[in-house]
Amino acid sequence: MNTLVDIPVERIKQSRISSVDFKTLGFGNYISDHMLVADYKDKKWHQPKIMPFGELLMTPAILSLHYGQSVFEGMKAFKNKKGEVSIFRPQRHHQRLLRSLERMCMPAISEELFVESLCALIAADAAWVPDAEGSALYIRPVIFATESRLGVKISDEYKFVVLTSPVGPYFAKPVRVKVEEHYVRAAEGGTGFAKCAGNYGGAFYPAEQARQAGFDQVLWTDAKEHTYIDESGAMNVMFVLDGKLVTPKLSTSILDGVTRNSLLTLADDMGMPKEERRISIAELKAGFENGKLTEAFGVGTAAVVSTIAIINIDGTDYSLPPDSEASFQQRVKKKLHNIRMGHEPDTHNWNYNVPLK
Ligand code: COI
Repeated sequence: MNTLVDIPVERIKQSRISSVDFKTLGFGNYISDHMLVADYKDKKWHQPKIMPFGELLMTPAILSLHYGQSVFEGMKAFKNKKGEVSIFRPQRHHQRLLRSLERMCMPAISEELFVESLCALIAADAAWVPDAEGSALYIRPVIFATESRLGVKISDEYKFVVLTSPVGPYFAKPVRVKVEEHYVRAAEGGTGFAKCAGNYGGAFYPAEQARQAGFDQVLWTDAKEHTYIDESGAMNVMFVLDGKLVTPKLSTSILDGVTRNSLLTLADDMGMPKEERRISIAELKAGFENGKLTEAFGVGTAAVVSTIAIINIDGTDYSLPPDSEASFQQRVKKKLHNIRMGHEPDTHNWNYNVPLK
C-alpha cells in the first residue's frame, strides 16, 4: 500500500497552528490540525482517513469504556536542520503495540498500515513538527474497542486513531520520586508490560497521593514483596551503581521501553558496563550510604532522560549527587539527541525518514 497516495486527506479549513506558542510547549497541551482514523470491522482493518482533529461519534456503550480494551503507543518525530522529518524507531514501537494488542485480545495491525499511517499524518501536519532543541512531535496512536453493547465480551469492532502533539520536555526540572511500598502498579502475569489504558488509570490514586506529599512520580516496586524496583509508570528507571549502568530486568510487570532499549545499546557503544537485573530497595539504600549510587534517571519517549534528584525510601529523602555534563546520563542523552537530529551517524538505523511529499 502506498499510503501517501492512498490515504484520503480532508484538510482543515483554518489551521490552528498560529495559536501555538512553540517557545513554551510543555507536554501534550496542543494537538495538531489533523488526526488519522481507521476502523476494524468484519474481521479486518479498513482504509484509514486523515481528517481535521475533532469529535468522533460513538455511543456510551462502546466496550472500551466499560471493560478497558484500549492500548496506545507514544513515539516521537524530529525535524533536523535540513527540514527533514524522521520518526524514532517506529518498527520497534509497532512490535510492542502487537504485544499489547495480543494481551488485550485485540486485533493485530500490520507494520505497513501502522508506519504508513504515521507517515501520512505527519506529512499532512509537517508544519507542526518543532525544530527547537529539546522539542519534538509526540505521536499518540491509540486502538480501542468500539462495539456498542453491554455484555462482557471481546469487542468485534475497534478504532485506530493517531494524534500528534508538538512537545517540549516532560519534566521541567529534576524529579523527586517516592518508592511505593503499599500500592501496586502491576503484578507478574498481569498487564504491566502492555501499554494499556488501565495501567495508567490504576496508577492515578497512588501517584496523586505521592504528588500531594511533594513527589513527581512513584517508583513502583514488585507486587509480591515490595522489595525490588520495577519502573516509574511514565518511564523506566536506570541507575549508575559502582560505575555500571544498572536497570531492572524486563518482566511481565515492566514496560519494554524503546528509550530503555536504545540507551542500553548506546551504553555498549560508549563502553559503559551495564547490567539488567533485579535491584532491591536495600541495594539503593546501601548505594546512597556508601556513595556508590551516583546517578538515577527515568527514561522514556516522553521523559527522554530525566534526572532523578531525590528518592524517598520509607519516608526518608535520599539525594543523588548534583548532575553534571560529565555524567553518563548527560552524555548518553546528548548522543541520543545527536543521532535523532542527524548530528551523529545513525548506525543502528533508528531514524525512519518521513516522505514529506
Ligand atoms: C510515553 O513516554 O510515550 C508515555 O506513554 C508515557 C506517558 C506520557 C503516558
